[in-house]
Amino acid sequence: MFKNVKSLVTPVASAVKTSKGSFSAVAKPQPNPNPEIQFTGIFINNEWRKSSSGKTFKTLNPATGECVVEVQEGNKDDVDLAVKAAQKAFKLGSEWRTMDASYRGVLLHRLADLMERDRLYLANLETLDNGKPFNDSFNLDVPMSIDVLRYYAGWADKNHGKVIPMNGQHFAFTRHEPVGVCGQIIPWNFPLLMLSWKLGPCLSMGNVSIMKPAEQTPLTALYVAELIREAGFPAGVVSMIPGYGPGAGQPIVEHPGVDKIAFTGSTEVGRIIQQTAAKNLKRVTLELGGKSPNIIFKDTDLDYAVQMAHFGLFFNQGQCCCAGSRVFVEDAIYDDFVGKSIELAKAKIVGNPYDPNTTQGPQIDEEQMNKILHLIDSGKKEGAKLAIGGGRHGDRGYFIQPTVFTDVQDNMTIAKEEIFGPVQQILKFKNVDEIIERANNTMYGLAAAVFTKDLDKALHMASGLRAGTVWVNCYDSFSPQTPFGGFKQSGFGRELGEYGLNNYTEVKQVTIKVPQKNS
Ligand code: NAI
Ligand code: MG
Repeated sequence: MFKNVKSLVTPVASAVKTSKGSFSAVAKPQPNPNPEIQFTGIFINNEWRKSSSGKTFKTLNPATGECVVEVQEGNKDDVDLAVKAAQKAFKLGSEWRTMDASYRGVLLHRLADLMERDRLYLANLETLDNGKPFNDSFNLDVPMSIDVLRYYAGWADKNHGKVIPMNGQHFAFTRHEPVGVCGQIIPWNFPLLMLSWKLGPCLSMGNVSIMKPAEQTPLTALYVAELIREAGFPAGVVSMIPGYGPGAGQPIVEHPGVDKIAFTGSTEVGRIIQQTAAKNLKRVTLELGGKSPNIIFKDTDLDYAVQMAHFGLFFNQGQCCCAGSRVFVEDAIYDDFVGKSIELAKAKIVGNPYDPNTTQGPQIDEEQMNKILHLIDSGKKEGAKLAIGGGRHGDRGYFIQPTVFTDVQDNMTIAKEEIFGPVQQILKFKNVDEIIERANNTMYGLAAAVFTKDLDKALHMASGLRAGTVWVNCYDSFSPQTPFGGFKQSGFGRELGEYGLNNYTEVKQVTIKVPQKNS
């Protein structure tokens, strides 16, 4: 059953697979749970360094809880060095600033080519560090990351300004200039994908990046740093600083030499970042949490809607900012929907992420596992009906049983807080009038979905829902061309698509006096 769901929801990955011959070259990928780890340092000026403090930190395998490797821990001094390198790379007259825009696109394509060459290795490394099933790393994370880089490679020489007629004896033109040094702080749920969402538009528009991968998942980002060097990007254009949020992330946000921050992560840290960045009015874009409603009307294909709702919540172990974590089901089909949803959760295969049959891996770390267990407890205490799951799976690694709560009420904690785990909440509704208000009754506004065969109803819902994305009869359908981001406390700014370029350009107008006649 789950296989069917995946084939329905991976149009992007399959498009990538057929877009270039080399993708099909790895016909039967062989998962390798022990990929050789080559890069654990700090990457500045196209060179590998040890941390200034001499400190390292452990990155763990979430499937076992064991240490994979020690990684250099960046701090303020390392950030200072990276900012110096970035400013030098961004200086007027530098190789990067004088490069043809189209050649920046060539470099991004080269990076994509190298990731394609090393797709199997990257997928193995992503699964080792993050715990997501190898099938997902190989078929979704890596190809979709490549796809985004290629999309933005195409934009490099196409985002141009306008000529504007003015009143009086002048005319003006606009230039879309890079913002400058961009601090890019990314989370652990999609390490490679978030890297490409951030680097693609940033480099395409001629900016330079200081990136901090999440402390839980530094390994693929560090490997990509080496590919960036191999692709031929000039020194200083990208720095990669592994480390913790307060130790390495905060100095990037505070640094006066950083012009812009792009952040994906918790709403709590997003708030801190905006406050900190306000001190010197850095540009900030934030992609934060969600509690996305998925609304299922009775006039839908029930089995399909059940599958998509299951996928929309359980994909990536539930660790998605846009997870469909409030499934509202019309009362006439509620009981059937619940029964079928429980069957799907029961059929999940939880375990070793390198096993090709596995459909659910571990959560990212002990802290997240405990947070999820705590929220499950709150659901039980507040009177939701636990239909299946509800506890830890095994006693090694950070696995959680696929869990379904039914009879959930809007005011329960599990209907309000982001759980970020494999825990589905199913709620009942009666009619259209009621459901838009209930769906919007949240501080978040990242995504929403509607399942119905009635086009009028779908369009009515799509205009009424306060969210940055509304999916109709689908869930988690992403592509590089379509913008993604939040209303309300889910953040601001849009990533992907042409809209994503706005975060990485400053508009400059140049006004020129035109004499009336030759004197
Ligand atoms: P987090 O927001 O603390 O971490 C995300 C990134 O921010 C990491 O790279 C981290 O090192 C960095 N960071 C943390 N504190 C920082 C600071 N003061 N200054 C600069 N950078 C900082 O998220 P965490 O603690 O890993 O997860 C907590 C919750 O956040 C999750 O349970 C989930 O609800 C949500 N979350 C949402 C994500 C999304 O995609 N929107 C991704 C990850 C977590
Ligand atoms: Mg945190």
